[in-house]
Amino acid sequence: MRIVVLVSGTGSNLQSVIDAVATGELPHVEIAAVGADKHGTYGVERSAAAGIETFVVNFKDYADRGQWNHELTEKCLSYRPDYVVSSGFMRIVGEEFIDAFDGTYINTHPALLPSFPGAHGVRDALAYGVKVTGCTVHIADAGVDTGPILRQEAVAVRDEDTEDTLHERIKLVERRLLIDTLADLATGK
Ligand code: GAR
Repeated sequence: MRIVVLVSGTGSNLQSVIDAVATGELPHVEIAAVGADKHGTYGVERSAAAGIETFVVNFKDYADRGQWNHELTEKCLSYRPDYVVSSGFMRIVGEEFIDAFDGTYINTHPALLPSFPGAHGVRDALAYGVKVTGCTVHIADAGVDTGPILRQEAVAVRDEDTEDTLHERIKLVERRLLIDTLADLATGK
């Protein structure tokens, strides 16, 4: 199963997928490429270091969102992926992209969707005062963190949690969830 992974930042979840492929934990998965929406992300840097092909479709280089979306779609299609994985990719993709990867665009989110979608899922959950939050892996559609849920797991909020401590605990679960989802998809489950 060929995947293209999209990142906007650190790519620590991506690293766990890279490691799982390298150690044979995901024997049926090949990371065809890693792409970003801006230059200088650690996600792209660590992928290049792992010998994975990388690309940047820099959002700021395009006069309008449609052109950027078109370029991103074409670039991803060029790798002939079975799935595209948004792993901390903080841009909403447009209709052309969703049409091209209909049902094969996967996103991970650090909250129990449909609660707390958006760029600050952990912060928003903490601010609301929930006692349980978690993470979600889902098939992404054209909305903000919307689409059919594939896997979800709860994480308890502690009184002393900050956004960072809670996000780190969520990510530990999120990495496992993403790897398990990829394993299922690769074996046709
Ligand atoms: C992850 O927790 C992911 O769920 C979140 O960004 C983090 C990326 O971390 N994505 C979203 O919030 C999407 N709405 P990483 O770059 O260290 O893997």
